Amino acid sequence: MSLNAKFEVLSFDEAEAALGAPEEAGRPRTLVVFAGTDVAFGDRAKAALKDAKAQIERAASAVKFKGKSGSSLEILAPLGVPASRLLVVGVGAGAADDGDKPARFEDYLALGGQVAAKLGAGASAVVLFDLPEAPAEPATAAAQFALGGWLRAYRFDQYKSKKKEEDKDGPVEVQLGVADAESAKAQAAEAAHTAEAVILARTLVNEPANVLSPTEFARRASELMKLGVEVEILDEKAMAELGMRALLGVGQGSENESRLVVLRWNGGAANAAPVAFVGKGVVFDTGGISIKPAAGMEDMKGDMGGAAAVTGALYAIAARKAKANVVGVLGIVENMPDGKAQRPGDIVKSMSGQTIEVINTDAEGRLVLADALTYVIEKHKPAAIVDLATLTGAILVALGQEYAGLFSNNDELADRLAKAGTATGEKLWRFPMGPVYDKLIDSKFADMKNTGGRHAGSITAAQFLQRFVGKTPWAHLDIAGTGMGSPASDINQSWGSGFGVRLLDRLVKDYYEG
Ligand code: BES
Ligand code: MN
Ligand code: ZN
Repeated sequence: MSLNAKFEVLSFDEAEAALGAPEEAGRPRTLVVFAGTDVAFGDRAKAALKDAKAQIERAASAVKFKGKSGSSLEILAPLGVPASRLLVVGVGAGAADDGDKPARFEDYLALGGQVAAKLGAGASAVVLFDLPEAPAEPATAAAQFALGGWLRAYRFDQYKSKKKEEDKDGPVEVQLGVADAESAKAQAAEAAHTAEAVILARTLVNEPANVLSPTEFARRASELMKLGVEVEILDEKAMAELGMRALLGVGQGSENESRLVVLRWNGGAANAAPVAFVGKGVVFDTGGISIKPAAGMEDMKGDMGGAAAVTGALYAIAARKAKANVVGVLGIVENMPDGKAQRPGDIVKSMSGQTIEVINTDAEGRLVLADALTYVIEKHKPAAIVDLATLTGAILVALGQEYAGLFSNNDELADRLAKAGTATGEKLWRFPMGPVYDKLIDSKFADMKNTGGRHAGSITAAQFLQRFVGKTPWAHLDIAGTGMGSPASDINQSWGSGFGVRLLDRLVKDYYEG
């Protein structure tokens, strides 16, 4: 996971000194400054712009540039500035301007993405991170800015045999002048790990299923060992001995064996119960015997987005040596139609002892999660569990691609997650649960069935999972809308978004570190 952009954090003085150095032959330098409403500049930016200010004024009035957030002004061969290109990036004004201002960290993240995009691959730039309205925590804001740039620069193009012209130019290289360089340097180093973690998750989601089989997924996850993560991989025999018939039933139609991967980071007190993350890792979901329609089925290579997010989160947590105990469990299977595949009507016994009537083999994610949840509760006795899964098409109907669905048996955990979601921009919306919904999955022949009918499909899926968590505080995130098929954004141009990595990392940082 090499990052496709370079950010070097400097003090303002160092950045200005860098501006003084002669430009590299064939690598014109860009100076980036930020402008607020009516093209207001901070003091450091003003000083660096010197004689170019009059030129900026003329250019701004010519194209009606007013410093609005999202807009920018480009001046080539600016007068009196030691750069071939000057980029004035609008950041809007104060609160009076209706929120048109980077105020939250999420906004600095987006700003970093915008600037990386405007610079383009191969550019060499000095960015003076001197905002007309200084952020409350400039070092954190600068680190988020760099993170946004790294995330924006990610591309999944290893299967393109002809490289694009822009790819030949190499990474964008940014020298970032900031107010609190000492602290910004440390935070940017941490943010680089976060970027690697998100990119790891994105790549796992983007990989096709002929490459990312369950065993290959397990192999990639086991590389977290290099960061000090303990890795345990259960094969089908080990899972059969534990009675994980719900998970194994999903994978039994595939030529590729199922795996359960357990990732453990012990950064906290030896006796502290871990927080557990559980991910749905269906490397391909054909629907099984209840086969899906052909149109769009290729997207089901991303049905392991939950497991990818958990892998990425463990990467981030281990890379920054979090003072917390965290366990990640990945239920990894392939759902195929076959002579050996499970059928509608089959009844399977889960590891918990509860029996399940399989009404629809395409409601497979909950079967995988059921055993993964029981496993983590029995073996690791977690203080709390968060599962992530591309679980239902119904969540797309309800929320689209902006929010993930949040379901929980515990208000405190739900609130913590919702707050982490707001802070990172990985937003969550909580759904109701209750006995009336739970009744919908009672079965005529077994303890429960794996579908609840046409109504409230995302909720009945969550009710199913809840039957496997007992009293453990638990939350389920349905990321079918946010994990894959992602619309292009300031910080992501890739199909797989890596949704959930920053959210889980933030949750640990804010609530589970001692
Ligand atoms: N993996 C799908 C859900 C999904 C749909 C993810 C669209 C991403 C985009 C899941 O396994 C599934 O097929 N769910 C069924 C459940 C139904 C059979 C009760 C669905 O949503 O239709
Ligand atoms: Mn399915
Ligand atoms: Zn699925």
